[in-house]
Amino acid sequence: DSLKEKVLKTKVMGHRGAALLAPENTLASVRAAAEAGATWVEIDVYLIAEGGLVIFHDDTLDRCTNGSGVTREARPTEVAELDAGAWFSEKFVGEKVPTLLEALECIQSLNLGLNLEIKHDGADVENIVPAVMAMLRDHWQDNDRLMISSFNLAALELCYEIDPQRHLAPLYEDIPEDWQEQLAGIEAYSLNCDYSRLTEAQARAVKAAGYKLLCYTVNDPQTVEGHWAWGMDAVITDDPTRFASLLMK
Ligand code: G3P
Ligand code: MG
Repeated sequence: DSLKEKVLKTKVMGHRGAALLAPENTLASVRAAAEAGATWVEIDVYLIAEGGLVIFHDDTLDRCTNGSGVTREARPTEVAELDAGAWFSEKFVGEKVPTLLEALECIQSLNLGLNLEIKHDGADVENIVPAVMAMLRDHWQDNDRLMISSFNLAALELCYEIDPQRHLAPLYEDIPEDWQEQLAGIEAYSLNCDYSRLTEAQARAVKAAGYKLLCYTVNDPQTVEGHWAWGMDAVITDDPTRFASLLMK
């Protein structure tokens, strides 16, 4: 599909922004990725109470904010009050948990591509996906700079139903036997997987089937030296500066 060929002119994507350089999934982290030379960032979108969509990874607020409790049950007004930077370092005190809209605006203003990972809790797919897709419809026009990824295939199937033109990327820890069927069913753009569990045979099969192949979370360039030869297209890393020689290529 020529439409889908244009995207992803990068080999290095910042993970949760740039999680080693600034508090993960904050706007500071997105800016840090851009300053490090990354042209794409991966962030996680999470559904909270009252239909709120925020950029957050964990099921609880404890690790990455000064709050506590179940993320899914937190109200947007509560989350907006939290500090999401102090836990990382003093320099980032006052950093907030971004809403999805704030993140989309920030990322576009920096001219970055976005890999938006949909976090889920099984039962919530029907709530989070339409909300995310509506937000993207209204606030992210450039299809070539957007990839939607998820470990939850049902979430991507619903994305596909709502807008088959978006670039979709199933995420796997271990690639399942029926990956071809899973990717074909949503006309996937890419397969995103754990670099440490990927085999050469799997990598070559993914590339032979015509998909992009992204690996997470790669913080030591040496560990994936062989993967480039297998056809890996890009790494998702907490620190893009470690891949300096591959940036902007
Ligand atoms: O998208 C790659 C990676 O972010 C998936 O794992 O847990 O860091 O969201 P996680
Ligand atoms: Mg993620």
